[in-house]
Amino acid sequence: INFCTPRERKYILEVLVNGLKRLEYRGYDSAGPPIAVIKQRGKVSALEEKINSKKLDFEFKFSTHTGIAHTRWATHGVPNCVNSHPQRSDDNNEFVVVHNGILTNYKSFKTFLVSCHNYEFESDTDTEVIAKLIKYLWDNRESETIQFATLVERVIQQLEGAFALVFKSRYFPGQCIATRRGSPLLIGVHSKSKLSTDNIPILYSSFLDAYVMLFKGQFFPLVPNNTYVESPSILIGMKYRTCFQQTLFPTAGTNQSMQLCRLNSTTELVTQNGESEGIEFYFASDASAIIEHTNQVIFLEDDDVAAVVDGALTIHRVKRGKSTESTTRTVTSLQLELQQIMKGNFKSFMQKEIFEQPESVVNTMRGRMQWEEQRVVLGGLMDHIDEIRRCRRIIIIACGTSYHSAIATRQLIEEMTELPCVELASDFLDRETPIFRDDVCFFISQSGETADTLMALHYCKKRGSLTVGITNTVGSSISRITDCGVHINAGPEIGVASTKAYTSQFTALVMFALMMSEDRFSKRKRYLEIVNALKELPEKIKEVLTLDAEIKKLSDSLYKKKSLLVMGRGFNFATCLEGALKIKEITYMHSEGILAGELKHGPLALVDVDMPILMIVSKDNVYTKVQNALQQVVARHGRPIIICENDDEESVKYASHILKVPHTVDCLQGILTVIPLQLLSFHIAQLKGLDVDFPRNLAKSVTVE
Ligand code: G6P
Repeated sequence: INFCTPRERKYILEVLVNGLKRLEYRGYDSAGPPIAVIKQRGKVSALEEKINSKKLDFEFKFSTHTGIAHTRWATHGVPNCVNSHPQRSDDNNEFVVVHNGILTNYKSFKTFLVSCHNYEFESDTDTEVIAKLIKYLWDNRESETIQFATLVERVIQQLEGAFALVFKSRYFPGQCIATRRGSPLLIGVHSKSKLSTDNIPILYSSFLDAYVMLFKGQFFPLVPNNTYVESPSILIGMKYRTCFQQTLFPTAGTNQSMQLCRLNSTTELVTQNGESEGIEFYFASDASAIIEHTNQVIFLEDDDVAAVVDGALTIHRVKRGKSTESTTRTVTSLQLELQQIMKGNFKSFMQKEIFEQPESVVNTMRGRMQWEEQRVVLGGLMDHIDEIRRCRRIIIIACGTSYHSAIATRQLIEEMTELPCVELASDFLDRETPIFRDDVCFFISQSGETADTLMALHYCKKRGSLTVGITNTVGSSISRITDCGVHINAGPEIGVASTKAYTSQFTALVMFALMMSEDRFSKRKRYLEIVNALKELPEKIKEVLTLDAEIKKLSDSLYKKKSLLVMGRGFNFATCLEGALKIKEITYMHSEGILAGELKHGPLALVDVDMPILMIVSKDNVYTKVQNALQQVVARHGRPIIICENDDEESVKYASHILKVPHTVDCLQGILTVIPLQLLSFHIAQLKGLDVDFPRNLAKSVTVE
């Protein structure tokens, strides 16, 4: 084993802490890197201080050239030191693990380990079960030569739910094992010389190790439902599994005859090792953590077990049935630049991303809008466009801001395709919505990793519909699993409150509507009107951004208020929802997006002289109706702040404050009306002294259900 020098150790710690800082936007309740298992509640900077103030001499003797670190967004257990990761098997840190995701079956293992084997748990996390379980398997190993990766393979066979895991162990110094199912995980590969292969071969285990619980003389297998098993006895046993967990476990605590037994283990290596000498490997949940070291990455698939052993990488997995899985993982070059994930001169990522919108929208259109031919070519959809045109329904599924981009463009998609277009969020699965083979399901996600959206994708794929991904993250789960799709190319979005991704998703969906209708003579006029408006859009966004100083002034009168209502209808309804979401997310003020048509059915009761009300008015087909709502508000002594078009003299008469935006075609107006609300939420949060990039309790990428 090659132990590391103090300088090398310092370097490793720096890499880990910097990586955590770049990942902090994904979760920031608590953090810890475990060269000496150092943990801290709160932000990564607090952890860094703690590391700098600590003497790590004792741990130094044992440290090798590997380290793991984690920044947490709490699912089980409050954010504190004990619950932060890494979680450990015992006081000696025999096995430590960091985990993204949620385990759904951790309780049964916890009961088993506590009741039958007197394990003591220190945290409230689901993750601690993993650390304890691997120690249990190690303590009960059948052979002294068992490998770390094999232990991990066995552990994940027991786990249900979503996870990306990285393990270290005192028994395997110089080794680091990572695996995933449902949560993202990639490997960065840094090499001074060119890699001799772009593909890392996979080592297959020909049959899984099946474990069973021996209880009162009967076997109860603990094999995940979706795992391929050959032995009929295990398949029969699987039926018991549910009943075991539900009815037998409560009595299991007193029964010492319960034990974990291994049934079968033959591991067959069918490919050779990847070449990896002299290379640095980085495991990370997204590329921003490693991009300053390398842009060469391997995206792991579900159930891959990647092992770095003394500087060499191998990827293992359990072979499932007769499936024709790919036998290699490809090394991909990312286009991401370090500068793109730095704040530059801006106060926050959110502010930077708001001001990037003139360019990010151009990047979404680049190469796809063929201005001279007045054509839209979304290359990622070309192979499937005929099938999409023939479909019975278009279903758009997304969460949060991405969901709002679906609402914003639904009307246009319905108009241009003459297909019913339904958009659904996280209750899609709860309702077990019927999906058919001739449906086309769109999955919109900035990160491409949102668990609810991803689960819905699996659900739709199983039912045979064509799946289309619209994401901002190359290599993300959604972009890889969908049949086809569009990358919105907005560039990395770090601010938790999504801004530029929204306007780019909006633009991409408008382009999709155009592509669907390019051959329709009846839609030609409308088509050309929208194409021309798209061309002018970036300049108009720039014009809206000049409202910044005025909006900052307006925020002064609003930041002490408790609530803010945002009203509009038609193409602007999505702006109301999205604007209200921005306000909630980063200012913690109550805010509601209200469909102006619904005003008289309830929200009008909230209106008085003190209630801040923002109304979005555009000169479109619902202009008169919005004017009616405006009158209803004014008649109840409401003093609306109005966002309207430059030449709207009528609305101005009723406004307590007016923000004028340029005119564009009705279906794109929502891009111009949402930006003032992005700026407003930013300035209110600033005035309240809040950290706009790290709103409390939220995370950028929610990889748990
Ligand atoms: C989280 C974020 C939101 C985001 C939503 C969907 O809740 O805080 O900003 O809109 O997830 O994320 P996605 O990556 O799927 O667009």
